[in-house]
Amino acid sequence: MTDSPWSVAVVGPGGVGGLVGAVLTRAGHPVVYVARPRTAAALTAGGLHVASAQYGDFHVPATAVPRLAAPVDLCVVATKATALDAALDGVPAEALGAGLVLPLLNGVDHMAALRERFPAAQVLAGAIRVESTRTAPGRIAHASPFCVVEVAGDRTPRTRLDTLAAQLRAAGIDASVRDGEAAVLWDKLAFLAPLALLTTAYGATAGEVRERHRAELEAVVGEVVSAARASGATVDTQAVLGFFDRVPAGMRSSMQRDVEAGRMPEVDAIGGAVLRAAAGHGVDAPATGRLLESCRQKADQVAAT
Ligand SMILES: NC(=O)c1ccc[n+]([C@@H]2O[C@H](COP(=O)([O-])OP(=O)(O)OC[C@H]3O[C@@H](n4cnc5c(N)ncnc54)[C@H](OP(=O)(O)O)[C@@H]3O)[C@@H](O)[C@H]2O)c1
Repeated sequence: MTDSPWSVAVVGPGGVGGLVGAVLTRAGHPVVYVARPRTAAALTAGGLHVASAQYGDFHVPATAVPRLAAPVDLCVVATKATALDAALDGVPAEALGAGLVLPLLNGVDHMAALRERFPAAQVLAGAIRVESTRTAPGRIAHASPFCVVEVAGDRTPRTRLDTLAAQLRAAGIDASVRDGEAAVLWDKLAFLAPLALLTTAYGATAGEVRERHRAELEAVVGEVVSAARASGATVDTQAVLGFFDRVPAGMRSSMQRDVEAGRMPEVDAIGGAVLRAAAGHGVDAPATGRLLESCRQKADQVAAT
């Protein structure tokens, strides 16, 4: 089933959406981007330029629209969480048809937001491991020599998931299907939330966090893992800490980079989501709560400037 092209919509052609869309276009899939006017104009006029540590440098033409008008096989959602609701106004459920919805946002709460708009069985859980930045509308810098996507769909027939993963792999994306949405979403969040909250709250690298805030790191990882396990994931505290100890000392988080650059960070989607899940399952998360408050203050400062 991987020989026939899929029609694809990409909502939010930024670092992630631009890269995934361009890679799918390169593989022969017709892709339409749902974008805001300035980005839509840039894409339609100049296409997408990708400079990639994995795929090399390439250019593809692009078509962008403010609102999806015709059904697609796959709708990739790749906005920041802070822009999700507004962006989804450009994807009416009747236009989506029977297509699959693959969100690649970090966090967990977007699942409910998507399932309010689209049939639950069409909405998948997705996670992407990549480092990709939109340097200008239509220009994507893919710095990581990998692009790994995991999908799961608790309410979706396995054959549809397998076909999707096969299509992505055929295009050059390292895609796999996992058993369970909680595993896909929380395995990523269990590492990302401590990294993002600690590096942002202290303006520190991962190495500095390890050296100067060890007790807090261990506390937060313990809390996030408890929330993850209560939510159905099987992630393990020692595994997350071990991973944290192995990342490069100079590693920073995208939340931290957003704050430093004056962009709205995804504080609520990452830290708020952990606290809500913890509260929902009766898990105490005081260290996470303190760090979240500090990050919220930084987000408020960004909003005020
Ligand atoms: N970048 C990474 O390496 C990476 C890695 C893993 C996970 N993630 C996650 O992936 C998600 C996307 O991150 P990103 O880095 O790709 O963000 P990004 O570069 O800021 O891209 C977001 C895109 O959403 C678009 N957008 C905003 N409002 C919109 C609207 N109303 N309608 C249509 N499009 C709209 C933006 O368009 P404009 O051009 O109009 O601003 C922008 O192109 C986040 O949840 C992030 O945490 C990112």
